Amino acid sequence: MGALKRLNSYLSKYKWAVVLGTLFLTGANFFLVWIPGLIRKTMDEVEALKNADYDGADTLFSTLFSTEAGIILAENAGYLIGAVALYGILLFATRQTLIVSSRKVEFDMRNEILEKLMKLPQRFYAKYSSGEIYVRATEDVNKVREYYGPVIMYSINTITRAGFVITMMYVVSKDLMIWALIPLPFISVFAYWITGYIHKHSIIIQEQYSELAGQAKETFSSIRLIKAYNRLDNEQKKFEKMSEQYRKKKLRLDMIESLFHPALNFLIGISLLIVIWKGGEMIIQGSLTVGNIAEFLIYVAYLTWPVAALGYTTNRFQKSLASWNRIEEVLDQPIEIESLTTVQEQKDPKSTFGSIEFKNVSFKYPDTTENVIKNVSFKIEKGQNIAIVGRTGSGKTSLVQLIPRLFDPNEGEVLIDGQNIKSLDLEQLRSAIGFVPQDTFLFSDTIGDNISFGIEGATTEMIEQAAEKAQVKENILDFEKKFETMLGERGITLSGGQKQRTAIARALIKDPNILIFDDSLSAVDTKTEEAILKHLRQELSGRTTIMISHRISTIKDADVIYYLKDGEIVESGNHQELLALEGHYTNMYNKQILEQELAEI
Ligand SMILES: Nc1ncnc2c1ncn2[C@@H]1O[C@H](COP(=O)(O)OP(=O)(O)OP(=O)(O)O)[C@@H](O)[C@H]1O
Ligand SMILES: [Mg+2]
Repeated sequence: MGALKRLNSYLSKYKWAVVLGTLFLTGANFFLVWIPGLIRKTMDEVEALKNADYDGADTLFSTLFSTEAGIILAENAGYLIGAVALYGILLFATRQTLIVSSRKVEFDMRNEILEKLMKLPQRFYAKYSSGEIYVRATEDVNKVREYYGPVIMYSINTITRAGFVITMMYVVSKDLMIWALIPLPFISVFAYWITGYIHKHSIIIQEQYSELAGQAKETFSSIRLIKAYNRLDNEQKKFEKMSEQYRKKKLRLDMIESLFHPALNFLIGISLLIVIWKGGEMIIQGSLTVGNIAEFLIYVAYLTWPVAALGYTTNRFQKSLASWNRIEEVLDQPIEIESLTTVQEQKDPKSTFGSIEFKNVSFKYPDTTENVIKNVSFKIEKGQNIAIVGRTGSGKTSLVQLIPRLFDPNEGEVLIDGQNIKSLDLEQLRSAIGFVPQDTFLFSDTIGDNISFGIEGATTEMIEQAAEKAQVKENILDFEKKFETMLGERGITLSGGQKQRTAIARALIKDPNILIFDDSLSAVDTKTEEAILKHLRQELSGRTTIMISHRISTIKDADVIYYLKDGEIVESGNHQELLALEGHYTNMYNKQILEQELAEI
């Protein structure tokens, strides 16, 4: 049981809380089991009192303190109150130790998973959907927490309570004990089965609900399209159908759930019936008192819940283990892209990185067979502006994402300033690179925060300057709240071109030595593009720049242009040189000229 050992290792930090909790719970059960004995004594005393010379005209209160039996009764009442109070206090203390430490373990585990997830390579993210990852960090952690909380608590409870209760039963009557215990395993099995059923169906219902919620979300986020295409009725019918399915399943689960308690009580009732029946016989034979039966009935009642909990706990435990296996899968993922360097001086925050070299680099995505980058070699000198062009799907994005090590190549190596990037400090490497990815992602946050995302402690001036360089400042100043304007779901939506320029500002504010633009000007018109490029050129002088584009106008001034075809560099040179080749690049150029001319007609 390696998994269990590892699960328990999380508790080592809180082992004193667990030890204390176990003691508290044992104590609580000790006092609880005290109660039936006191009740038996009380009942037997009442019986004695009834038979004694007792003047019924006296008030209860005066009787209590005037007769011998009365004094015993009063004492018993005192003990009873004491036992109940101690039981309550200890139970509270148990929850405060055991359940609280389970919450702390949950917190630790969630943080550990998140920390791990942050370090995992893109390779991992290409394999698991974001939904799967999300479930592991949320639902699965919740289920594992149940192991630390209810599972451990109920197990200790069942063991200690059953220990005390069965001992007491044995002391009272061994025969009656055996009779009373017979139905209990059935209760356990029943509880195991029904909690399993409820759990399984709850998951189905939860999924159904997510689907329903997803459908509603999609409807509302595409409401303009739905209205424009006159699909309102259709959408409503779709929703109603799903809603109806949800209702049916939910009602069925509700029915099973409402059967649970009556059925359980029925089984408990059988147990009690046996005690009364067999115990009654023993009273008649004179081996037990009425008080004994009362005592016994309470013992049985005490046992039924922990025994039912045993079934529940076993079920929960299985679910916890299943969830733990899924979490373990994440925790045991290799962090392929690890920072190898330990050299302190390399951690200099302002690096001098500049030249980039690809040496026989081949790369393929996980779960695919064919290389998308095939034996590519080229060198970019420090401060050079290079461009990569090629048809869609030729591997441009795949190529540049090897530089900040979002993926590592399968063969060959990428060098920066002559050093394999695998031997560089990852943080330092990434902070030297300003990467504007192809699909712009902006957070639901202010524009200012979106721009300053990559650096700590950016000043307003820095943000404004970056926005200015990326030609988006004027647009931002037009908004009422300027740089404080919220984006995303609860804010405004930027136009495609504004988004791209905000992303460029985000890369520029880092003041990086190496800049990579992956088709970052595709959504702006040629005039704005020219303006941005003009500013960038000043900004970019001295920096190594890689620009990917589909538009020749964007890249024609680059020092070297590489034409990528099916993951291979098939042409390279500057604009004029490439045109002279009359190959792929010339083809692409001619097509674009033609398109432009057609557009101008
Ligand atoms: N995560 C991935 N897993 C598997 N295959 C991928 C993945 N990302 C891209 N590919 C594949 O790799 C190939 C190259 O894709 P890439 O995104 O590098 O092309 P691109 O040149 O940037 O195209 P575009 O000009 O359209 O941006 C494509 O065939 C694509 O389907
Ligand atoms: Mg691309």
